Amino acid sequence: MRLTINIDHIATLRNARGGHEPSLVEATRICEAAGAHGIVCHLREDRRHIRDTDVRELRKTITTKLDLEMAAIDEIIQVALEVVPDFVTLVPERRRELTTEDGLDVRANKLHLKEVIKTFHQHRIAVSLFVNPIREQIEAAHEIETDMIEIHTGEYAEARNSLHQQELLAQVAQAAALAKSLGLGVHAGHGLNYSNAGAIAAIRAIDELSIGYSIVARSMFVGLECAVKEMRSLVHQE
Ligand code: PXP
Repeated sequence: MRLTINIDHIATLRNARGGHEPSLVEATRICEAAGAHGIVCHLREDRRHIRDTDVRELRKTITTKLDLEMAAIDEIIQVALEVVPDFVTLVPERRRELTTEDGLDVRANKLHLKEVIKTFHQHRIAVSLFVNPIREQIEAAHEIETDMIEIHTGEYAEARNSLHQQELLAQVAQAAALAKSLGLGVHAGHGLNYSNAGAIAAIRAIDELSIGYSIVARSMFVGLECAVKEMRSLVHQE
């Protein structure tokens, strides 16, 4: 199981005082040395945490993989084509949301997303689509030739009780198995933490987890290196 670390909220902290600390480049070095398989950053339209200059700098310094999370809009697509991340994860974006709230409606936006995927493929950039664990969305993602999907685990993470959580876990597992059977790479993420990530990591069809907030929050107490290592050992499977 690969683990990629979303560093958006290290940028949130940096931006709180308008300076350069904590440094994102330093943070990514620590994450990579602690065993992260990749770094994720979300260049939002409102640039509330990650900025264009961050993405360019990270592209030069990251030694694992850079996953640029983004909305499929022209302005950000231009930045992505210039920076050439290892892959992009396309997400829906609403201005007022605290974080990405929902998966893409691939079925309703097939034509547009297909064009965007084609553009990225012409530039040799792989594409992942962030989707809810719903059969129709995964089939639509496959039809428009995405390379990977990322299954939205937010609902699972916020389940109201353990029975509900088990149901949602089964839904994620089914979605992952379907995506794998269609030949897609399978990622999962959103809301995963030290209590709930283990069960998702145990789903064999999932290749990679994308985790941000809980690791950055834990790093306040134990340091980033330790926070990443703890998550690594939690999700690691032989
Ligand atoms: N995957 C996607 C598509 C996301 O939008 C986010 C949040 O930026 C994450 C994973 C990471 O979620 P969290 O910060 O809750 O771990």
